[in-house]
Amino acid sequence: MSLAARIPEPSPDAQFAADIVRGLSRRQKSLPSRYFYDARGSELFEEITRLPEYYPTRSEIEVLDAHATRLMRNVGPDHAIVELGSGSSRKTELLLDAAPRLSAYVPIDVSETALTEARQRLSARHPRLRIWPVVADFTDLGALPAGLEMTSKIGFFPGSTIGNFDAGDARALLSSVRRLLQPRGRLIIGVDLVKDVDTLVAAYDDRAGVTAAFNLNILERINRTFGHTFDVTTFRHVAIYDKALSRIEMHLESRREQTVRLLDRWFRFERGETIHTESSHKYTVAGFGDLAREAGWEVGETFTDQKGFFSVHDLVAPSSMARPAA
Ligand code: SAH
Ligand code: AVI
Repeated sequence: MSLAARIPEPSPDAQFAADIVRGLSRRQKSLPSRYFYDARGSELFEEITRLPEYYPTRSEIEVLDAHATRLMRNVGPDHAIVELGSGSSRKTELLLDAAPRLSAYVPIDVSETALTEARQRLSARHPRLRIWPVVADFTDLGALPAGLEMTSKIGFFPGSTIGNFDAGDARALLSSVRRLLQPRGRLIIGVDLVKDVDTLVAAYDDRAGVTAAFNLNILERINRTFGHTFDVTTFRHVAIYDKALSRIEMHLESRREQTVRLLDRWFRFERGETIHTESSHKYTVAGFGDLAREAGWEVGETFTDQKGFFSVHDLVAPSSMARPAA
């Protein structure tokens, strides 16, 4: 299939290489979490969403199931949904079913395989909907595909993917999404909530080891892309909750002292030294509301699941007359 729009990057592998070298040269070694999502990573993420311990997907689906009709009221042929980090687009189906007159759907993701599969499934189910997948990094988006100028854009950013950004980056991303969706923009965003530590840690360190495989896949992806360099068996998955920062951190811990030759450089690991691969920030409803307002949004309705585990916020861009764009 040929995708409708592909935002050109200089060379994905060159960018990946530069990000690896930058991340592994830091005192606290790190790798950007968006590199989890090659074809294998997207598959593993889908497996995570079905794990008994990974409550976020079930909780968010509960909220969307209960409130999709309300969220999609007044959505007609002059509207398009623009989704950030759409993955399998499973949650989107709840919105699409509640908005049968919607004009277009623009899923944006770095994972081309996830976009391809989602488009095939959705176009069979909604044959009249225009679907314009975009393979791109949503932190670095130029413009939306041409042809959407006259539609009101409803952003959809589920999964608490916003939690994978530190507060400053999350604020900047929410601001840039507001500009992307203007005028009359709206953003329906899923945000995971602070809860007891055991529930949080179990969700990121499941008994079946799927999250461990997901985390280690980033090293396997480096091996697949740049030749076999990491002995993946010498690293182990670690998930910890940092209460002060309200975030789960995933790391890959070196089981032994070792030096890895990669991209014409040597990277030394002490025994027990880690690569920080992901942060997953947890918010309170009020705390996320503050962040959204700092990014120039007004907070409309907020919904949570029965257990109060997960929230969905309906954000509205203030009219440009009322507030200058940040
Ligand atoms: N929205 C889905 C998937 C969440 S997983 C859900 O709620 O279940 C996060 C998704 O965001 C993955 O599909 C991943 O490929 C995508 N993603 C992560 N970082 C991204 C980035 N910087 N730009 C575009 N897509 C990104
Ligand atoms: C996509 N993102 C919000 C997930 C999360 O919960 O932070 C990714 C994930 N990492 C481990 N499990 C799931």
